[in-house]
Amino acid sequence: MPRLSVVGAGNVGASAALYLAEAELGDVTLVDILEGVAKGKALDLLQAGPVRGYDSSIEGSGDLRAIQGSDLVVVTAGFPRKPGMSRLDLLKANADVVRGVAQAIRDYAPKAFVIMITNPLDVMSYLTYRVTGFPRERVVGMAGVLDSTRFRTFLAKEIGVSVEDIQAMVLGGHGDTMVPLVRYSTVGGIPVETFVAKERLGEIVQRTRDGGAEIVKLLQTGSAFYAPAASAVQMAESILKDKKRLLPAAAYLDGEYGFRDLYLGVPVILGSRGLERIVELSLTPEEKAALSKSAEEVRKGIADLALEAAPAH
Ligand code: APR
Repeated sequence: MPRLSVVGAGNVGASAALYLAEAELGDVTLVDILEGVAKGKALDLLQAGPVRGYDSSIEGSGDLRAIQGSDLVVVTAGFPRKPGMSRLDLLKANADVVRGVAQAIRDYAPKAFVIMITNPLDVMSYLTYRVTGFPRERVVGMAGVLDSTRFRTFLAKEIGVSVEDIQAMVLGGHGDTMVPLVRYSTVGGIPVETFVAKERLGEIVQRTRDGGAEIVKLLQTGSAFYAPAASAVQMAESILKDKKRLLPAAAYLDGEYGFRDLYLGVPVILGSRGLERIVELSLTPEEKAALSKSAEEVRKGIADLALEAAPAH
């Protein structure tokens, strides 16, 4: 069985551990600075196994060394944004957490694939890429699958068709500057524009952009976790089973789409070598402009990291 670790046993981490176990993708280690939380949730998940029919082993730990020898690490450790916290405050708080986690991955799981979930996603993926020194093939961020699954959900409801028949592509940074690509979204291969009027599509795109905020407002005490965890596990499955799925993910760009040295959401192929390929689509001038705006946001976040001390590749 592959060895899988989930760092951060909060809402997203525990849900990811559950989906990983249910898909029997490997044995799961759940790690959190709150040792009791990691151990308690791991035990609870293990005890759901006989009923749900999975044989994966699930262990909890308060020590990052427990990720030793992992084949894949999902990172969810960090803080959600609290009232009164600026974007920069959140970035700094989570950068401290993610830096430590990335160092542990580099030291204890040097061969692992890393799927980043902690926000701000694109910036945390970049930080992990720099701190681990791993090739870009092994550090990807989960955002696009989540953003597109939200878009797919709303489109399926609007049109009255199965969610399974909706394909959608979302590019850009994970945030309100994301770029849902209506042109590349289909119902069973038929363009969505055939089913939904342009104006209504615009509203659905906007709801997708605000998808995270809509849930934060309802929950009041945290942010979304089922769909983010499920999205990360779909990426993990594609890597572990070498499925070579084409999914949107935050990837390190080295000239693709005209950007260099940053993480941004683009279509990628995920297989046993990790990020095996970045798929470059031709974009309209409007889509290009929206992507550039999104990239600028990510660049600002990367600049805020003050990364001088991190090793370059
Ligand atoms: N090492 C390990 N775990 C840590 C560390 C650390 N240095 N710092 C914090 N944690 C743990 C916390 O103890 C907590 O259990 O990370 C967990 C985060 O869980 P939640 O607060 O429930 O947050 P969650 O909703 O899971 O979101 C986690 O994912 O989607 C993103 O924006 C979200 O950045 C956030 C992350």
